[in-house]
Amino acid sequence: MFTSALLVASALVLAHAAVVVPRAASITDFSTSPVEFTYPPPRSGYNANNATAYPCGGAELGTRTNYPLTGGRIGLDVDTLAANVNLMYANSSNPTTFHQFSTFTDTILDVSDGAWCGAGPNFQTEGLTSGNDVTLLVIYQLYGNKTYMYHCADIKIVEASAYIAPTDLACSNSSAVLKTATDDESLVLKGSNYSAAQEGIDGQTVSIDLAAATAVPSSSASGSESSAVAASSAASSAAASASSTSSAGISSQIGGLGIVSAAIGGCYLLL
Ligand SMILES: *[C@@H]1O[C@H](CO)[C@@H](O)[C@H](O)[C@H]1NC(C)=O
Ligand SMILES: *[C@@H]1O[C@H](CO)[C@@H](O)[C@H](O)[C@H]1NC(C)=O
Ligand SMILES: *[C@@H]1O[C@H](CO)[C@@H](O)[C@H](O)[C@H]1NC(C)=O
Ligand SMILES: *[C@@H]1O[C@H](CO)[C@@H](O)[C@H](O)[C@H]1NC(C)=O
Ligand SMILES: *[C@@H]1O[C@H](CO)[C@@H](O)[C@H](O)[C@H]1NC(C)=O
Repeated sequence: MFTSALLVASALVLAHAAVVVPRAASITDFSTSPVEFTYPPPRSGYNANNATAYPCGGAELGTRTNYPLTGGRIGLDVDTLAANVNLMYANSSNPTTFHQFSTFTDTILDVSDGAWCGAGPNFQTEGLTSGNDVTLLVIYQLYGNKTYMYHCADIKIVEASAYIAPTDLACSNSSAVLKTATDDESLVLKGSNYSAAQEGIDGQTVSIDLAAATAVPSSSASGSESSAVAASSAASSAAASASSTSSAGISSQIGGLGIVSAAIGGCYLLL
């Protein structure tokens, strides 16, 4: 307890000094995809060195899961702060190019540790039928790094009436930070048309509500979380503390890059 008090005190000192030093996660910090399908199940063979390889992060075609023509759900497990998360699908048994994929849902601009669950594509209105093979793709950026990572899940479309959802299929959003783009904003891949966001030094669009990020610890446990994530949370706490004591800008470091963040209406824009 004494140690935690010291840590909190240090964080406050940091905040008062108006300097925080979060460290952006590196893809090599994770032993599973840091944004990972929980449903339908993903391709296995995650390899951090291949995560940037499109369309599927270098993972080989895997087991296919039966998935309903309409009314399906998609679950993700997020292990770190991620940005510009886009879900897509390809009507193909084994897509080899990125442009085979179509979007079907709004971009998640920012999301922190936790579970995410949303509607899958309405394959019926997309013109698909039962028996079609489909690959789902999620692309994402790690906070503070504009490089996109790729991760896939393989499904076979079945009639909704013939589909049996797993009994343990949970569907909730538990991330403290979850900013979803509007339909219009989603038309711009990097979310760069997001009115409240700015392009960062590394070309990434970031807008994190640090107060929300630190309000409730995520309930979703993950074995692949790294110390970098904890470090980044601690820094977020420091920054959140600073917001209540000062409206001045805060200088911080993300992944070795100097970043100036300005407080605007309780939300930090990392410029
Ligand atoms: C995945 O990475 C390994 C080494 O890390 C490499 O040998 C292999 O070619 C890569 N595969 C793909 C598809 O990128
Ligand atoms: C989906 O793929 C199947 C099999 O290749 C094809 O017959 C069908 O026309 C495709 N549907 C659409 C909407 O592209
Ligand atoms: C961003 O991620 C890529 C892929 O992991 C890595 O090669 C690059 O060094 C990272 N950039 C920064 C600024 O951390
Ligand atoms: C989770 O958030 C997304 C928006 O990112 C929303 O579409 C979806 O309905 C939410 N899921 C639940 C279970 O509320
Ligand atoms: C951003 O969106 C607005 C309205 O949706 C549009 O008028 C504007 O042209 C867009 N800007 C870019 C750079 O796409």
